[in-house]
Amino acid sequence: MTRRAPFITLEGPEGSGKSTQGRILSARLRAMGRDVLDSAEPGGTPIGMQIRRVLLDAKNNDLCPTAELLLMFAARAQNVDQWILPALAAGRIVISDRFTDSTLVYQGAARGLGADVVYDVDRIACRGLVPDLTLVIDIDTEMGLARAHRRSAQTNDIETRLDQESLAFHRKVRAAYHQLAEDEPRRVRLIDGGRTEQEVAADVWSVVEPVIASLVSDVTR
Ligand code: TMP
Repeated sequence: MTRRAPFITLEGPEGSGKSTQGRILSARLRAMGRDVLDSAEPGGTPIGMQIRRVLLDAKNNDLCPTAELLLMFAARAQNVDQWILPALAAGRIVISDRFTDSTLVYQGAARGLGADVVYDVDRIACRGLVPDLTLVIDIDTEMGLARAHRRSAQTNDIETRLDQESLAFHRKVRAAYHQLAEDEPRRVRLIDGGRTEQEVAADVWSVVEPVIASLVSDVTR
């Protein structure tokens, strides 16, 4: 059976700790001798990072929802072509901090553009690439936002356009993640991020390990 390497994504509302969990997971896989590519969106490639700046710069208040959606996918298309597909074809595990599910919940649900338009553009940008496993690190909206705002203030971050959105916007994001986990229970797993880093990492590993084992054995079969 020919099958590409596993493609795993981490998702979650602001301040959920998903990036930390992604780093812990990659390190764990590398320690086991697996070849891992870490990616992040919006961004990833050097061109994607330039698009990220336009998307997240707090000064760009005028960016309209459709332009926002298309720029998210522009960065993703570059990432899919330049990094993700070649890595998966070479047998490397790819771990992406956010992917199309983010567009589904932020632009599709919270901005109100709807899921259909997101899936339409996804077909062009990602050409059928869907994660094998998606871990949604869930966090109480107010707690997550407080964490994110604290971190931005400490680092003088200017990429705050989206985390400055209203509490109602971020509540819609969280609810849409819950809905996604309900709609796609095999691929999308909700993990309680309101605990210690180690506790969350243990849960992440208990979900990832069997999936990696089955997909990697398919690749080498
Ligand atoms: P980050 O904080 O995980 O780097 O994500 C940056 C912001 O971009 C975050 O507020 C979520 C948002 N975002 C979208 O709105 N749509 C998307 O498709 C992606 C990838 C991120």
